[in-house]
Amino acid sequence: MTEIKDGDQVLFYLDARRNWLRRVDAGSSFHLHRGILQYDDVIGQEYGSLISTSLGVKVAALPPLPRDRAVKMGRQTNIVYPKDAGLILLLAGIGPGSVVVEAGTGSGALASLLGYHVAPAGHVFSYEIREDFAKAAAKNLKKAGLQEFVTIKQQDILEGITETNVDTIVLDLAVPWEVVPLAYTVLKGGGVFVSFSPTIEQTQKTVDALYTSHFTEIVTRELIEREIMVRKGKTRPETRMIGHTGYVTSARKVYPPKSNKPE
Ligand SMILES: C[S@@+](CC[C@H](N)C(=O)[O-])C[C@H]1O[C@@H](n2cnc3c(N)ncnc32)[C@H](O)[C@@H]1O
Repeated sequence: MTEIKDGDQVLFYLDARRNWLRRVDAGSSFHLHRGILQYDDVIGQEYGSLISTSLGVKVAALPPLPRDRAVKMGRQTNIVYPKDAGLILLLAGIGPGSVVVEAGTGSGALASLLGYHVAPAGHVFSYEIREDFAKAAAKNLKKAGLQEFVTIKQQDILEGITETNVDTIVLDLAVPWEVVPLAYTVLKGGGVFVSFSPTIEQTQKTVDALYTSHFTEIVTRELIEREIMVRKGKTRPETRMIGHTGYVTSARKVYPPKSNKPE
């Protein structure tokens, strides 16, 4: 049993569309359109408790999961959503102790999920070319309590990767194919390259570069998620869905270099 403490970040969940991540400070309150939540009524309760607003509406006070923090963090860039992040984590084999190089950091959403999964013994080195994005992402990672596991480097990754013997390279930037030769140099043998790109053209160029740089197991996937509305007697897919996020390309380093490009 874990008690909600003064200063904790809490996910207040009313329903799938109406939920909020808030820091609960003693003496403060949160105004919803369904009444006011006094944080003094929240502090000291167990996580998972249903708490009444001033209008008697029950709101669940949940401990935020890494995916909640990722999607709700302040953002100035597009982010990688949990659907694709889950696939990236699995393909990359990222776990406690992994050494990961990421670019670009963007808002830090994917970096936060990578950091959560490499902890406590691994580390993420995340390159971001823009100073304003690097600073905002650093704030987001600190809020998520993950700054110990993620180092944000305000640097153009194309100017060089200083880490060596890297387990995984994860990319979400405009020109991933230009990073491929560098990735080959710093990855361990068998190390994994993963790149997320919104367009087919980026994906094509990246896959070409992976063949040229002698990677193997080169696969591109698109994950399509469809939510199901479950109601008695009328269960069916939701009418609206997100049609497209991006393509995930993964590959592994082999050496000595071998030509494996299919015709
Ligand atoms: C779409 S955003 C990444 C979002 C991130 N995956 C997230 O989940 O928050 C792409 C980022 O790559 C950065 N970027 C572009 N080229 C770069 C480069 N050569 N080196 C480092 N960062 C770069 C951009 O400034 C931008 O912040």
